[in-house]
Amino acid sequence: MSHFIINGGNRLEGVVTISGAKNAALAIIPAAILAGESCRIENLPAIEDVRILEQILIRMGATVEFTPDQGMRVDPRGISTHSVTFEMVSLLRASYYLLGALLGRYGYAEIALPGGCSIGQRPIDQHIKGMRALGAEVVIKGGVVRAQASKLKGAEIYLDVVSVGATINIMLAAVGAEGVTIINNAAKEPHVVDVANFLNMMGASVRGAGTDVIRIAGGRKLHGCTYAIIPDQIEAGTFMIAAAATRGDVVINNVIPTHLEAISAKLMESGVRVIEGDDGREFFIRVTSQSRPRAVNLKTLPYPGFPTDLQQPMMAFLSTAAGNSFIVENIFEERFNHVSELRRMGANITINQRTALVEGVEALSGAPLYASDLRAGASLMVAALMGEGKSELHNIHYIDRGYEFFEHKLRALGADILRVE
Ligand code: UD1
Repeated sequence: MSHFIINGGNRLEGVVTISGAKNAALAIIPAAILAGESCRIENLPAIEDVRILEQILIRMGATVEFTPDQGMRVDPRGISTHSVTFEMVSLLRASYYLLGALLGRYGYAEIALPGGCSIGQRPIDQHIKGMRALGAEVVIKGGVVRAQASKLKGAEIYLDVVSVGATINIMLAAVGAEGVTIINNAAKEPHVVDVANFLNMMGASVRGAGTDVIRIAGGRKLHGCTYAIIPDQIEAGTFMIAAAATRGDVVINNVIPTHLEAISAKLMESGVRVIEGDDGREFFIRVTSQSRPRAVNLKTLPYPGFPTDLQQPMMAFLSTAAGNSFIVENIFEERFNHVSELRRMGANITINQRTALVEGVEALSGAPLYASDLRAGASLMVAALMGEGKSELHNIHYIDRGYEFFEHKLRALGADILRVE
């Protein structure tokens, strides 16, 4: 198993370019199944999750090819199986988007229940509620969800929890349903909007994405298109936090600053300088820090609140802040698996149910570290970069799932990281 050796303490300086959004890619690739022709998806991140999805689609009979310049062409016309086995999905939680896409396109889908990061219970009851409202018969048996409908029909659906996955999955099925579907209490995350834009490029009618009411007029024939994925909000946020944590000075290119407002606000509150700019070609954010941050409190919330995916890296950053920070995790109940690792580096963190009390210490020291999930990996990377001395970071397959060229990008900013195969 590979691991990283990180000699902490280097100030990150320079310019980094953000890749395409992982979470958008994982929904847009399955969404391409809905088209009657091939689609070209651009600005894809070169990450393990995308490769797994490519393999799943190929096994289903689709023609999928990577093109130079970070693109992928997906031609769904050869798809001959509408079932996806556990062996195929066990590595990828977002394979649940195949449920909505296959149901919307063929009226039948059989998907083994997903794998992915273990950060809490992660039920899919809202996805299923949505599919049933559209007229599908949904049965869960032996770890497999089977959904089928002779004809999907638009419906009004209220989500009991704001769920990104359920919002997108219902959108995918609803474009294949006759009539109008309304999703109330929909998620507003940037990648929900990105998926809606992609569907509209294929000829669908999805309105209101980015607000909490989405209206889909379904039943249209969808054609092929070329679509470029948005920059990754979470990758950008991770680099912003890493820059701040190492008291660095980093320009982060290819970002959408509005997507990063919650992160910018919290970093600025802690004393970090964050400047948004436009170099005439694209937006950038510059993060500069020279001194010990102040403690800040934060709660994770659905967008536009502070994203749960950045709670873990932010906790690493705040572990050496002056004062006490309270961090409340409202989205995933078990998203504190990184805490025991941070403690081994000297952090002083106490967990009480969904709240972490982070009592800032002067410095962290390097240690052997084990990532338990993707963003825990990012958190431990931030901690190792800011820590004194050497850390060995294990289970880095989690990081490879979601961050493109992570160590290369960090190394280019001055980090001392070695991947040991
Ligand atoms: C997606 C992201 C993940 C991010 C999360 C929240 C992808 C591939 N993953 O995950 O990185 O951390 O959004 O921004 O895009 N819930 C239910 N029932 C459901 C669905 C969800 O109770 O049917 C609950 C979950 O347990 C959780 C909350 O709703 O407490 C939000 O989950 P959701 O937004 O669905 O997260 P994911 O789509 O799994």
